[in-house]
Amino acid sequence: MIGIFDSGVGGLSVLRAIRAELPQYPVLYLADQAHVPYGPRLLEEVRSFSEAVARFLLDRGAKLIVVACNAASAASLHHLRAVFPQVPFVGMEPAVKPAAESTHSGVVGVLATPATFQGALYASVMERFAHGVEVMQDICPGLVGQVERGDLDGPETRAILEKALRPMLARGMDTVVMGCTHYPFIIPLIREIAGPGVRVIDPAPAVARQTARVLAAHGIEPDAAQPPDMRFFTSGPPEDLAALLPRMLGPEYARQPVQGLSWVEMRLE
Ligand code: DGL
Repeated sequence: MIGIFDSGVGGLSVLRAIRAELPQYPVLYLADQAHVPYGPRLLEEVRSFSEAVARFLLDRGAKLIVVACNAASAASLHHLRAVFPQVPFVGMEPAVKPAAESTHSGVVGVLATPATFQGALYASVMERFAHGVEVMQDICPGLVGQVERGDLDGPETRAILEKALRPMLARGMDTVVMGCTHYPFIIPLIREIAGPGVRVIDPAPAVARQTARVLAAHGIEPDAAQPPDMRFFTSGPPEDLAALLPRMLGPEYARQPVQGLSWVEMRLE
């Protein structure tokens, strides 16, 4: 069983890719919507949420955990691997490498949250891969909230994106990286604003392939006795997540049950 978590619905962009790559594995998806957004929080705080969420998923039978959140990966991947040394974790890192490799103009944009830009992971990716490339960053204030509300193309969402993308486009950016798992859901709007000459990089398919490799390396097979179904949990209102699932994943999720959880003294119950 694969456990996947995010602060909210963003990780569904990763879940979608994992389902396409690994349909034979059951999945647990947890949205910590009591605490969304993670991006503006202190890294220590995000780290303690991530540890409790990982513990919950492991208690429910997850054998591998995908941290489907750039902010949580930046804040806690090292910590999670130290606290749960027997568990394989797959995390997100901003896809600066493929962007730097494919840009022709030499100008790349990264859209992510403050936690991601502050983390050591981003600094290390920049140091390793951004040579000779101008990387422009934007924290897109409020954009995670817009996606959480299911506003994928309204005027407010458009205004946030235009503000972020215009200066990048003016400098000749030809590649933009989705450094937050919420943002792949607004790629159609990004394409509309940026035009056909800009390549948009969604790391989710690469993360799904990495998940397949890590499962194989650890010999984690799908349990033949268990159907490959999905279970959804949220620490926010379950009806809100249930209403968004068909928007994000398709109409077949219209009646997908969602279980609500509560935080009790830094534990999910
Ligand atoms: N989806 C998240 C990410 O990839 C977190 C967004 C947030 O909660 O701020 O960074």
